[in-house]
Amino acid sequence: MNAVPTLETHLSDDDLTAALRADALLGLTSAPKWLPPKWFYDARGSELFEQITELPEYYPTRTERALLERVVGEIARSTRAEVLVELGSGSSAKTRLLLNALTAEGALETYVPQDVSSSALRAAVEEIAAEFPAVSVHGVVSDFTGTLGNLPRGGRRMIAFLGGTIGNLVPAERAEFLAGIHEVLEPGEQLLIGAGLVIDPAVLVPAYDDAAGVTAEFNRNVLHVLNNRLDADFVPEKFDHIAMWDAENEWIEMRLAATEATTVKVRELDLTVEFAPGEQMRTEISAKFRLDGLRNELAEAGFRTERVWTDPDDRFALVLSERV
Ligand code: AVJ
Repeated sequence: MNAVPTLETHLSDDDLTAALRADALLGLTSAPKWLPPKWFYDARGSELFEQITELPEYYPTRTERALLERVVGEIARSTRAEVLVELGSGSSAKTRLLLNALTAEGALETYVPQDVSSSALRAAVEEIAAEFPAVSVHGVVSDFTGTLGNLPRGGRRMIAFLGGTIGNLVPAERAEFLAGIHEVLEPGEQLLIGAGLVIDPAVLVPAYDDAAGVTAEFNRNVLHVLNNRLDADFVPEKFDHIAMWDAENEWIEMRLAATEATTVKVRELDLTVEFAPGEQMRTEISAKFRLDGLRNELAEAGFRTERVWTDPDDRFALVLSERV
């Protein structure tokens, strides 16, 4: 039997509010305005994202899951990881595949899921601990870009960063993030990345602009978060959801557009923000990759790509690399 699962918090509610204050102050006073995508994920936003993963248009989750199902045995055999660290684990739905394969290999001892959403993580930790009694589970509530230093040492570790979340980072942030992972891993330890590939915009754009409007509601959720945490008075219904393919940067950009001239007060910041009619604010980038580009970025950060698997339509890739 495993010990009681634990949940460590390196991001208190006050830390979260302080970080949101800084991000909101910077982003809402910039021209053009912007907000970082991590602020979608309060309990409601995490729930909306789970709904997105079920939408017919949103291919990434089911594509990655099918791919993982196909190759997870190979991953487990070639890594024989003792510690699996999963960054941005959310509900840990795909993780079960990895945990099953790694426990079948007989090496896995510890699972460390990390997420910014304590509600999503708490539920996942309890469920996984119950399903995998031989594995000790230590959840870490933190920001994956900031708290890698808190990861446990010892045991052969693999860090998994699935779902295509690496695409939420702009190239400079990705370089910094990979450098941070390089710093915490020992030579020979592994990194498994799930990344969306550059595909036909006719498939890509609807994945971020579904007919049922769930993604629109997810996008507007950042305004609810600002209202709740910073006592702002956004009227989310007065912002339209936009998803567009930026062919030069090869990323999807989500924006919110003010339907009319609007004045918003953010009381916690003593800030008044004006939106012109139609004014757009960037809320997320979701970069898509080419395999060569991804290999290069990994190499520059000190990782050697060992294996690359893609789905039959080349929409998504799993890349296993080794810290050099
Ligand atoms: C959770 C970051 C992988 O970028 O596809 C889904 C978030 N945004 N629909 C993505 C998201 C709009 C998602 N990730």
